[in-house]
Order: sequence, then structure tokens, then C-alpha cells
Amino acid sequence: MKFKYTLWVLYWFLASALASHAHAKTPVNDTDKINNLIAKMTIEEKVGQMTNLTLAAVSEKTDEPVTLDMEKLRDAIVKHNVGSIQNTINHAYTLEEWHHITNKIQNIALKETRLKIPNLYEIDAVHGANNTLGSTLFPHNLALAATRNPELVRLGAEITAKEVRASGIRLDFSPVLDLGRQPLWSRFPETFGEDVLLVQTMGAAAIKGYEGKSLKNVTSVAASMKHFIGYSAPADGKDRTPAYIPEIMLREYYLPSFKAAIAAGAHTLMVNSGEVNGTPLHASKYFLTDVLRTELGFNGVITSDWEDIKKLHDWHKVAASNKEAALLAVNAGIDLVIVPLDFSFYDDVIALVKEHKISEKRVNESVRRILQLKYDLGYFDNPYLEPDAVKNFARPEYKDVALEAARESVILLKNTDNTLPLAKNKKYLVVGPGADSLTALHGCWSYTWQGTVDKYFAKDTLTIAKAIKAKVGNDKVIQLQGTDFDAKDINIAEAVTAAKDVDYIIVALGENAYAETPGNIKELALPEIQQLLVKELAKTGKTIVMVMSEGRPRIIREIEPDAKGILLTNWAGSQAATAIADVLFGDYNPNGILPYTYPRFSGEILTYDHKWADEGEETLLADKKTFNPQYPFGHGLSYTTFDYSDLTINTNKLTGNDHITITVTVKNTGKIAGKHTVELYSRDHYASITPSVKRLRKFQKIFLTPESAQTLTFELNKSDLAFVNAELKAITEDGDFTVMIGNLNKTFTYLNE
Ligand code: BGC
Repeated sequence: MKFKYTLWVLYWFLASALASHAHAKTPVNDTDKINNLIAKMTIEEKVGQMTNLTLAAVSEKTDEPVTLDMEKLRDAIVKHNVGSIQNTINHAYTLEEWHHITNKIQNIALKETRLKIPNLYEIDAVHGANNTLGSTLFPHNLALAATRNPELVRLGAEITAKEVRASGIRLDFSPVLDLGRQPLWSRFPETFGEDVLLVQTMGAAAIKGYEGKSLKNVTSVAASMKHFIGYSAPADGKDRTPAYIPEIMLREYYLPSFKAAIAAGAHTLMVNSGEVNGTPLHASKYFLTDVLRTELGFNGVITSDWEDIKKLHDWHKVAASNKEAALLAVNAGIDLVIVPLDFSFYDDVIALVKEHKISEKRVNESVRRILQLKYDLGYFDNPYLEPDAVKNFARPEYKDVALEAARESVILLKNTDNTLPLAKNKKYLVVGPGADSLTALHGCWSYTWQGTVDKYFAKDTLTIAKAIKAKVGNDKVIQLQGTDFDAKDINIAEAVTAAKDVDYIIVALGENAYAETPGNIKELALPEIQQLLVKELAKTGKTIVMVMSEGRPRIIREIEPDAKGILLTNWAGSQAATAIADVLFGDYNPNGILPYTYPRFSGEILTYDHKWADEGEETLLADKKTFNPQYPFGHGLSYTTFDYSDLTINTNKLTGNDHITITVTVKNTGKIAGKHTVELYSRDHYASITPSVKRLRKFQKIFLTPESAQTLTFELNKSDLAFVNAELKAITEDGDFTVMIGNLNKTFTYLNE
């Protein structure tokens, strides 16, 4: 007994000695360091880490050139402990300006604050480093989705990351993972289109490109998947207006892209500014904590969108004050708040902690995630500009990737009588509001938020007219504007007269750049004035080719018959004009295909994966609900032809977790080489929740020279065929499924066991 007691005392002594040693030891890993830091932080220092300001809040009023207001900066970082800053004032900056700004901010954080925690800078770089002058701009997500080439998306994101990091910035508020199913919505061009699999695949590719192997690398930035969740389907089509999306739909269509992005390693997420089913997402503990954290296992930083905590109070009206809004948001699970112009959030949260309405434990969770991100990004190793990163700015090879991406994003919608490609020795009238517009080729977030200021584009960036002149020679081109984008007849009559002297008319139509709320529209039809231009030109009897550059499908039903050829790009970036001219004149064989359904009528907006009840005829009522879009999802022509044959499946019965193997042979039966995307759809014959007419399950892009063929193999398993049932669970029910590739199909039966 005595011996046992002595042993116990000895054990206790040793254990406590070890424990105290462990406590005193120098931290070895980030977690230890973060815990140590948090233990030293005051509540003010903690809440400061959760507070994000915009650059304008710490700068002098004038923005030419941007000048930090050192007094305001000190007030933010030293007095209010602000841990991160973001954005630009009005426009993109030179590399040098960025270096100056970011280094100065770090100087204050490192030299003048008690704990010397480096500051984090964030930017929206959504199709290239669009806030740094001289960067390469890639096609917008919608255009990239048309390429069906995830590797191009990854490459573009990788280059974007390099140019952002070269600017001294390490967090990119991109990619948009919202599903583009509401074409009126002004942020439709920022989406990867209407299909779940497409958005999942392209979104994950973008994240891999941004984040690379490690955020510490000078080639990487942290990605921010956004905007969680349901932002893209506002009922009235306007930006940030209410959406009504039943949870069964949120889970079936809107959640999978975030799930895939988390699996791809995304470090941060931004919340949807809007409300879904009457709950603003910034106040939704259910979505931000229960779904995102607990169910999906997301451990990264959740940021608010712009001023969205205040909007819980003064816009959505779910909080009676800003303070109550802060309480709702923090307790819902938000870590980092883009306030972004004052210290209201900071003051409110400190007060709420002191009043025990928000626990310090809850604040610590957010601070831990933010500090972890700063560690991951290498800020604690070197928060200043990294010279090795700067070497990666504006490398000549980036242009090649932008050109390839732009070329693959061009969609040939129509080509009657093989009008295209055009001959280089004919005479052309190049006319329309898009003919000499840079901004209409680049769209939003292009050196300015709205993308509408020409002077920031690189001097050698081509417009459609310039690219065509470069191709066929100035002497073969008459260039006129005709109309502006929306209302004004610049001189249609002059265009009609000029058309008499040419062989072909190329009309450049579509939309000028816009972003977010300023891009709201009330009418999806292409503005009347542009349609009038085409109608008047058609009267000349000359062959018309329409070149559309737009952020969303503007309805062209009335003028479509007037054009023999139609090309479409959805804001394809700095090489867009060259890509368009290459396709027009046969130097590139088009292969882009629509990532959304192009509607024919604004009263008939349906996605390809609509339900059976959306189409078909009700005999008694003679109510014809046809699905007859202008162009279907996946549509896009080529200058060659591809034939499908020998569709096989390896079994007629798929059971449990096995997979079915599907093969198909594709042959280039035309005269020129080309790229081509093979899409595999499935149809669930009967299900407890009404099945879609079809769903895209796999896609693969190939390249075939004339007369060559390739056999492709696809595999499908239970989860590829699943749907969300009434209990909100993803299940696959027993029954028959048909797989479809082109006009071929095969049917098999699935049995759970
Ligand atoms: C947009 C976000 C963007 C943020 C930061 C907001 O207006 O909704 O997508 O990341 O501004 O600048």
C-alpha cells in the first residue's frame, strides 16, 4: 500500500513537471504559436482581427495617385487593431503603387502594434489580376465554362494568383460558385453557367489554380468561394433581391459547388449578401454553422460581403440595430467582416462580449481561423513584398493562355450555308456598338469595378474592328458604329449606305460592361436600337454575320433570321478580339459550347435540366408548353463534323456501389482538325421527386484530326445518379436510367442491392 502510494506520488510529480515544461516550451508549430498569441490578445485585439476595412477608409480623399492617410491608417491598425484591408479606390493600380500600399500597411502593423500581427490584404481578382494595371485578363467564368476545359480554368487562375501575389496581395475574393440559372441577374457572367457538374468542376479547377500546392508559395493566393448560398437566383432577377429556393433545391443545385470547392481545399468563403426564403444568409446559423461547418466540415475563414452586417439592420430588417446585427452575424458563424468604412462592428462586438452576449470562446474561434490563414499565407515569415513573386508579373507566356482560353470560349451559334469562315480577300463593313469597344469585350472587374473606363487597358489591346483589320488589311474594312448599346442611333443611315459597297456586314452587338447592381435590367431582349440596326442592314440584302459579346443571353429572336452566321463570347478578356477574328476568318476552328440555355422568349426561361411538366402538351387545354430555346445548353458548332458511334455499357444492371462503364467512339468526319466536347447525360425514368428530363453527368474535351477517331470511356456510380429526396438526403432509387451521348442512348437498371 505504502509502496503503491509512493509510486503514485512519483507519477504525479513527473506528470506535473512534464506538463509545466510543456506549457513553458517554445511553440513549435502554427497551432501552438496561434494559441500562444491568442492567450496574449486582449478582446480589442481579437475583434480587430475580425474587422476588415476598405482602402478608402484609410486613404486621403483624392485617389490620383492613391495616398494613404497615415493618421487614419494608424487609427485603424494601432488604435482599433484592424487586421485586414481590401479593395482599391475606383481603379486598378500599378505594381509599384500596390507595393507601396501593402508595405506601408505592414510597416504600421509590424512596427507600431503591440503584438506585431501582420495585416492581410484582399482583392477581387476574378478574371486575372484585374486590379493591377498591366495584368493579363482572361475570359470571365461564363466564357470559361463554354470552353469545357477545366485545365484552362486552372491555368488562368494560376496566372492570376501569380500576378496578385506579385502585387503584394495574398487573398483573392474569387471564384464565384453561384449557379447561373437566372439570366437577368447582372452577375450571371461571373458564374460558370447553369449546370451543377460544370460549376463544380470549373470551380474546383479555379481553386486549385489559385491556391497551388501551398499558400506559402509566392505563386499562390488563398481563394474565396462565393457567395454562399443562393445568391444567383433572385426572384425578380435584380442584384441582392430576395430569392425563394426551397432547401431541397438548395441542396440539389446550389450546395454541390461549395462541397466540391471545400474538397479542393478552398481556404475562405464569402457569404451571400441576399436573403433566401426570408432569412439573410449573414444571419443564418443554420447555413453558416450547421451546414457549412458541421455538415460540410469547412474549417476556413467565413467572410461577410460588403457592409452586409449593417444591412441586416437597415436593409433586411431582421435586427433592430447595428449592434443586434453584429450579434446575429457573429453567432451565426461569420469570422471576418467587411465593415468596411467605420468601426461600428468593432465597437459593437467588444460591447457584446463584455455584456456576455457573444462568448469570448466564439471570438477565439474566428481569430484562430484568421491567424491560421495568415500563417498559411506565410505572413508570419515575411509579410512584406516578396521579390520572387514580383518576377512572375506580366510574363509574355500569359498572353498565350489568355488567347487559348478566349479562342476556346468562342461559340459558333449559327452558320447557315457555311457562311463562315469568311474569306480574307472580300470587303467588310464592321459596324455596331461593339465594333470598336474594349469594355464590351472585357466586361466587369476590368481595371475598374464596372469595367467601363477605356484608359486603363493596355495600349495594344485590340477591339473587334482592329483585329479584323489586322487580319484582312485596313483597305478591306469600313468601320462604323451605327448605334450605342442602349438607346442612341449614332448613324444607322450611314451604316446602311456604307453596306452597299461591301461583300459582308459584320455587326458587333451585345452588352457593354457592368457589375452588380448597376447591371440590373428590366428586359432581357437585346436593346431595340441594336435590333433596329440589324433590321435596317438586312434590307440591303448583304450577308450579315453577328458577333455578340455579352454577359448574359440577350434575346435575339427577331433578328436571328437576318444573320447567316452568329458568334458569341461572354466577355472573353484581353485576347477576345483576336480570338473572334481567328474564328471569323478560319484561323481557328471554334469549339466553345453554351454553358446555359439561350432563351428565345423572356417568358420562357428554362434550364436544360427542367422537369417533364415544363414541356409537352395538355391534350384538353391544347396548352403547348414546348421547350424551344433559341439555342440549347451545350450548343456550339464547328467547322468540321464529329460523328458518334458504338455506345456501349458493360452491364444492364448496376448494383450498390459498383460502377457502370460506358464507351463511345467519336470520329472527325470533316476536313479540318478540331476540338470537341463529348457530354454524357443521364435520365432517371421515375423517382420519388420528379426527375429532370436529363442531367449532365460527365464531359470530356478531345482533339481530333480529320478522319481520326477516339473511343472514350466514362464511369458512373450510384452517387453520380443521385438526387436529393424529400428528407433532404442524397439517394439513388432503384429503377431504370438511360445514358445519352449525342443521339445515342442505352438503358440500364440500378438496384441498391
Ligand atoms: C461583391 C463581392 C466582392 C466584394 C468585395 C461586393 O460588392 O458582392 O463579390 O468580393 O464586394 O469587394
